[in-house]
Amino acid sequence: MKLSVVGLGKLGSPLAALLATKGHEVKGVDFSNEIVEKLNARQAPFHEEGLQDLLDNEALKFEATTDYEHAIQDTDATFIIVPTPSAEKGLFTNRYILDALENVGQVLQKKEGYHLVVITSTVMPGSTMGEIRETLERASGKALGEELGLCYNPEFIALGSVVRDMLYPDMVLIGESDQKAGDFLQSIYESFCDNTPPVQRMNCVNAELTKLSLNTYVTTKISYANMLGAVCEALPESDVDVVTRAIGLDSRIGQKYLKAAVAFGGPCFPRDNVAFRAMAQDLEVPVDLAQATQQVNDFQPKRLQALIRKFNRGKRIGVLGLSYKPGTYVVEESPGIKVANQLVKEGYQVSVFDPMALEQAEKDLDERVQLTSSIEACLKACDTALIMTNWSEFSEEITPKLAQETACQLIIDCWRTLDQKQFTNDCKVLYIGQGLAIAEQKLDELATVH
Ligand SMILES: NC(=O)c1ccc[n+]([C@@H]2O[C@H](COP(=O)([O-])OP(=O)(O)OC[C@H]3O[C@@H](n4cnc5c(N)ncnc54)[C@H](O)[C@@H]3O)[C@@H](O)[C@H]2O)c1
Repeated sequence: MKLSVVGLGKLGSPLAALLATKGHEVKGVDFSNEIVEKLNARQAPFHEEGLQDLLDNEALKFEATTDYEHAIQDTDATFIIVPTPSAEKGLFTNRYILDALENVGQVLQKKEGYHLVVITSTVMPGSTMGEIRETLERASGKALGEELGLCYNPEFIALGSVVRDMLYPDMVLIGESDQKAGDFLQSIYESFCDNTPPVQRMNCVNAELTKLSLNTYVTTKISYANMLGAVCEALPESDVDVVTRAIGLDSRIGQKYLKAAVAFGGPCFPRDNVAFRAMAQDLEVPVDLAQATQQVNDFQPKRLQALIRKFNRGKRIGVLGLSYKPGTYVVEESPGIKVANQLVKEGYQVSVFDPMALEQAEKDLDERVQLTSSIEACLKACDTALIMTNWSEFSEEITPKLAQETACQLIIDCWRTLDQKQFTNDCKVLYIGQGLAIAEQKLDELATVH
C-alpha cells in the first residue's frame, strides 16, 4: 500500500520506518527541515531503540518531505501523529492536528479515489467526530463515507521500546467513522504486527476514552504500589517487592507497573491523568480515584526528602537518573529533576548524573545544580546518593568497592536496583532500599554505631 505519515517525531518516525519495513511505500511529512534531512540521509533524528536499524535497511521505500502535496497525493491512507499539548485545565488541544488537516484537506480536494485519515495523536473524547471531522470535511470538500474515512487509532507504546511495542501490541484499538474505514485500517495492521493482537473496533468516542482510561488506570496502579512502599517502610520486617511480586501473580492484578519506586513522569502519564480529571469535572462526575492517584504521586518526592532528613549524612546530595525512565533521554516530568531542584531550594548542594539525558536535563535544572560526567564523579561529589531511574548502568557499576572509594556515605535506592546483600555491615557505605522496613532497622544501627 501507499501510506503517508504526518509528524515524524518520537512516534511518527518509528511508525513510518516500520510501515516501510513491512513493504509499504511510505512518505512522511514534517515541517522540521532538520528531521526531514536526517531521515532522508537515513539517520535516526533522535535516539529510539531499533530505529536506526530500520533506517539502515537499503530496500526501505521511505521518503521524508516538508511538502504535503508530495507526501499525500499518491497515498491511500494518512496517519497523523503531531503533538496535542495540554492547554486550559489540562485538556489536550487539537490545534496541531487541525493545522495538519487544513493541509491534508487541500491535497485531498484534488485527489481521486478513497482516502483514509487516521488520527494517532492522543485526543480528548469527542474530538475525532467533532472538530477533527468538521475540519477534515471542510478542508477536503468531501464528506465521510464513500470517498473519505476517518479513524482514531492511538499507539500503546513506551519511549525506549517504541519499535518493539508497535510490532507486538497487546491490542490494536480502532475507533472508526464507518465499517469501510475500520476494515481498511485493520488490513494495514494485519500487514504490520509481528504478533496477532486482538483488534478492538468501536466508535471514535469509545476509542478516545479507552486510550485515556488505560493510561489513568496504569497510573492508579503505580500510585497503589507507591502507597504500599510507604507502608512497608513503616512496617517492621516488610518488603514491598515481596508483596507486589505475590499480588502481581493474581491474574486479576498482574505484575506490570506494580513496582513501588518514584513518582510517575514522562510525556503521557501525568498529563493524561490531569486531562481525565478535567474531562470528568466538565461532565460533573466525581473523580476521587484520579485525584487520589495524583495526591499519592505528588507525595513521592516529599517521602524521599523525609528519608534524606531522617538519615542525614550531610548536605551534599547526588541524584543518579534524570530521564523519566531508562532507555530514553526524555526528561518531561522527570522525578530526578524535580527532586534535584527541590533539594537545591532547601539549601543542599546537588550533583547529578544520567547516562543519556544530561544535555536535555540541563535546561530544566536549577542553575545551582552541578552536572557530573560519570557515576563515579557524582558519587565523589556527594554524601548521599539517590537512585532515581533504574538504568542498568547503575546496578552494573555501583558496587560497595566503587562507593567506598568515593565520598558517598549513604545510597538511597528508590528502585532497589542494586544488590543490597553486597552492602554488608562492614561496608562503610550505608544502603537503603526505599520501600523496605530495613530502613528503620538501619536507623537503629546508625544510632548505636555513631
Ligand atoms: N511520546 C510518547 O511517549 C507518546 C506516547 C503515546 C502517545 N503520544 C502522542 O502522540 C502524539 C505525538 O507525540 P510525539 O511524542 O511523537 O511528538 P513529537 O513532538 O516527538 O513529534 C511531533 C512531530 O510533529 C511535527 N509537527 C507538528 N505539527 C505539524 C504539522 N502541522 N505538520 C507536520 N508536522 C508537524 C513536529 O515537527 C514533530 O516532529 C501526541 O499526541 C502524544 O500525546 C506520545
